[in-house]
Amino acid sequence: MSDPGATARRRARAFPELPEWAGPTTRLVHGARRPDWNAGSVVPPIYQTTTFHFPAEHSEARDRGDVYLYSRLANPSVEGPEETIRRLEGGDSARLFGSGMGAITSTVLSLVRAGDEVVAPAGLYGSTQDLLTDLLPRFGVRVRMLTGEEARSPETAMGPDTRLVLVESPTNPGLHVHDLARWAKAAHGVGALFLVDNTFATPINQHPLALGADVVLHSATKYLAGHSDLLAGAAVGSAEVMARVDAKGYLGASLDPFAAFLLARSLPTLGLRVARHNENGRRVAEALRDHPAIERVHYPGSASLEEEAIAARQMQGRGGMLSLSLRGGAPSIDPFLGRLRFFHVASSLGSVMSLVSVPIQSSHRHLSEVELSRLGIDPGFVRLSLGIEDPEDLVRDLTEALDAIV
Ligand SMILES: Cc1ncc(COP(=O)(O)O)c(C=O)c1O
Repeated sequence: MSDPGATARRRARAFPELPEWAGPTTRLVHGARRPDWNAGSVVPPIYQTTTFHFPAEHSEARDRGDVYLYSRLANPSVEGPEETIRRLEGGDSARLFGSGMGAITSTVLSLVRAGDEVVAPAGLYGSTQDLLTDLLPRFGVRVRMLTGEEARSPETAMGPDTRLVLVESPTNPGLHVHDLARWAKAAHGVGALFLVDNTFATPINQHPLALGADVVLHSATKYLAGHSDLLAGAAVGSAEVMARVDAKGYLGASLDPFAAFLLARSLPTLGLRVARHNENGRRVAEALRDHPAIERVHYPGSASLEEEAIAARQMQGRGGMLSLSLRGGAPSIDPFLGRLRFFHVASSLGSVMSLVSVPIQSSHRHLSEVELSRLGIDPGFVRLSLGIEDPEDLVRDLTEALDAIV
């Protein structure tokens, strides 16, 4: 069959550059839209195809990586949001994956080998922790999970075999912040790569690459997608490191074109959504701080003056994640949740709709009492992912539910 679009197709792979002065939301709206080479649609079409025409004259172009072959390796619908996220994080190269765990497993497995040591502070997202502590040791990779105390001085945690360091900040669900510039320096001091899971902060509120990270990871399922309707993951970093991430494309955690289309549809509103998440986080944290039903509000920077200084230095906004320690402990959780009108009781986070979860019953249910208390998770601990509803409505909903359990 003939292939009329072949020449245009090769040309169209380049994304238009924007003026340097363009702000983040302008970049999100106009960032990665290539002219449609078929009908001229302003919205990029969904290339819901597994494979692409491959006439003989494309052999040379294939060797240069200039044409599409097979959607596990590259698909135009995936490349658009990939480029938007690359620009947002400020990296040379970005890859999207079928889930956040797809991004994390593909990146970590590509960068370690037998004999290496991986260092991470305890309290990572549960499946990431499982990957490190269950899977990697089976392949001869040693993993050292640091306690909260040890994680305060990362320099002393690095050893001669440390090759990879993985940090989340703010942490889940305690919302502690790690000093990313200090961690980067400590990791690089022993020649290790430094990876940061930036899911909670978002690329609007925090730029780990500018603070020294080698790769930024995301569960794009969360704020980047933002509507609780798709799974996706992202890895962004230097050209050199990203060239090693699933270099031959056999790990297979590729993003589906339709999910990529939905993600591309969500990204232009990321800046607006995160501005509202930030406002809702700040308003709810202030309103609930002295409520008699609450022992403690956990919010990025709230743990200590030192963490407040770190958050102020490295975050442009504190986000919409917030946890509460209810004074009444475990018995007060169900009466509290049962009175909320605008919070879905569900795991996950980063959506336009507010969600509430109980880590002891969900993500952290496998941990012992000692491990839970080390992470600061007490029996009345509840995690809120504040959506983009009107701030006064969320404050009122939470306050009324708390008033009822005093
Ligand atoms: C911080 C963090 N990283 C990674 C993941 C995994 O992402 P996914 O569920 O998209 O695989 C999650 C999921 O909740 C998360 O919270």
